[in-house]
Amino acid sequence: MAKQKIIIDCDTGKDDAIAIMTAAGSADLELLAVTTVAGNVEVSLTTANSLRVLEYLGLKVPVYAGCDRPLVRDQILAKAVHGRNGLLNRDFVELTRSPEKEHAVSYLIRTLMAGDGDIVVCATGPLTNLAMALRLEPRIAQKIQKIVLMGGSAGFGNTTPAAEFNIYADPEAAAVVYSSGVPIVMMGLDLTEQTVVDDSTLKRLRGLGNRAGSLCADILQEQIDQHAYQVQVHDVTTVMYVSEPQLFSLKPVYAEIDLSHGPCYGRTVCDLNNRYHKAANVEIGLQLDCDRFWAGVEERLSHLA
Ligand code: BDR
Ligand code: CA
Repeated sequence: MAKQKIIIDCDTGKDDAIAIMTAAGSADLELLAVTTVAGNVEVSLTTANSLRVLEYLGLKVPVYAGCDRPLVRDQILAKAVHGRNGLLNRDFVELTRSPEKEHAVSYLIRTLMAGDGDIVVCATGPLTNLAMALRLEPRIAQKIQKIVLMGGSAGFGNTTPAAEFNIYADPEAAAVVYSSGVPIVMMGLDLTEQTVVDDSTLKRLRGLGNRAGSLCADILQEQIDQHAYQVQVHDVTTVMYVSEPQLFSLKPVYAEIDLSHGPCYGRTVCDLNNRYHKAANVEIGLQLDCDRFWAGVEERLSHLA
């Protein structure tokens, strides 16, 4: 069977890094490229971090650097969560690779327009690149098979009481994407917070005995050591959904982004109870089989160096 083509648009980022590894280790996926955006850290760092992960694992996937700031709002970063460099607070590989010369937005447009609707975009950072691409070339809306994004929440936020980081970092871009008509699977905090990392997960990752398993365990251990809260791998759900959708339960809903500049700025308002009687524009992830999710991640990382 032909492999499913995917592009990861990300702000690497600890869990973004694990999403890239998971995709590269998925036998049923063809990772065409990684496109980067400013988010957890500056775009120069999200690009370098993506390249580092790929170089460390001997993977030749091209990396395209994208937008360095949100469309409208002032920039926010998440260094408190991901560290100063956004990945590991130590060098684990000497970077010899560079990003491609083409901008991520023009790469996305060129590649999606050349395809026949056979590409899924996994978006694990702010949605700036996708919004720019949709505005510059609206016809890509018919060419994207699906956007599987990590962002938002039907319930509470993690950056403000109302908003999740990826959406809050560029709410106007999220509004463009959510209203684009492209089929969207939204992995919000309601689902991604179920991907809790515990000691047995770390032990099994180290037990893989390869670079991918130890890098993943080191990234997670550093996050656990630095923070007193539970660690989850939000972004990895996007890739695992494309590869193994049966692990997830979804519900079609109408969702829109709050762009008012009050306490709910950046909230993904999800009409779970169909109060608006509007057509659904996203499928929201609600439940995940966590044991099978982690078993799937480990199996995929075991195929890597
Ligand atoms: C999201 O925000 C980022 O810090 C993570 O990489 C993830 O994409 C979780 O809210
Ligand atoms: Ca991310």
